[in-house]
Amino acid sequence: MPGQSLRLWDPVVRLFHLSIAGVFVGNYFFNEAGDDWHVWLGYYAMGWLLVRLVWGFIGPASARWSDFWPTRARLAAHVRSLLERRPEHRLGHSPIGALVMILMLLAMLTTGLSGWAMEEVDALWGADWPLQVHETAADALLVMVAIHIAAALFESFQVRDNLPLSMLTGRRRRLPDDPQR
Ligand code: HEM
Ligand code: HEM
Repeated sequence: MPGQSLRLWDPVVRLFHLSIAGVFVGNYFFNEAGDDWHVWLGYYAMGWLLVRLVWGFIGPASARWSDFWPTRARLAAHVRSLLERRPEHRLGHSPIGALVMILMLLAMLTTGLSGWAMEEVDALWGADWPLQVHETAADALLVMVAIHIAAALFESFQVRDNLPLSMLTGRRRRLPDDPQR
């Protein structure tokens, strides 16, 4: 029934989101670049990336890679539905949303791996490029996060629901065209 709420995001996805978003904001804006907090928070986020990778194979439907992997056909259908102004709603990521999500995860992974390379790999001591990769990946992530937040707010107005809140509570309002689950 429209108007009711439905359970969408499971606790692992929600804790994952809170963790990587918190680490990103902390490491980008707040702590001293390269201090102990920065490094340990970075590794904490890397641990979560691994958990999320595995969860995408064993978790519930809305967490599964196969449920939302942005194939060419899914992306084309999504773009067509937007151009024809008949938005479709899914119980999970839209194809374009999933594409941005995957790019964000890759940027975060690159940031973490380059940070590790710069700190721990003796052979790279004094080399310039790990820092450049680290900065570029972190800046690219900042741009994508800005788009991500803008899209979440825009879509919240479209469907008249608080989607950022749904990432915290796991529930969102049921829409008339939602499939039953
Ligand atoms: C994954 C989340 C991370 C984010 C978003 C992040 C972001 C950043 C940013 C924005 C800077 C400033 C770059 C500049 O000077 O312009 C920085 C510097 C630095 N980061 Fe990270 N970082 C992350 C993880 C890590 C990890 C895992 C390590 C090490 C194991 C690390 C080590 C460093 C070091 C040593 C610097 C200082 C480099 C220098 O100025 O010489 N970071 N990081
Ligand atoms: C206050 C800022 C943020 C808000 C309001 C927000 C909001 C959201 C919302 C509403 C979703 C669900 C998207 C959907 O319906 O398909 C989502 C998912 C996601 N967000 Fe954010 N987000 C924020 C910050 C971030 C940051 C900083 C990052 C990355 C560093 C991030 C990475 C992700 C990822 C990877 C997902 C997919 C979650 C999964 O399926 O595991 N978000 N976010």
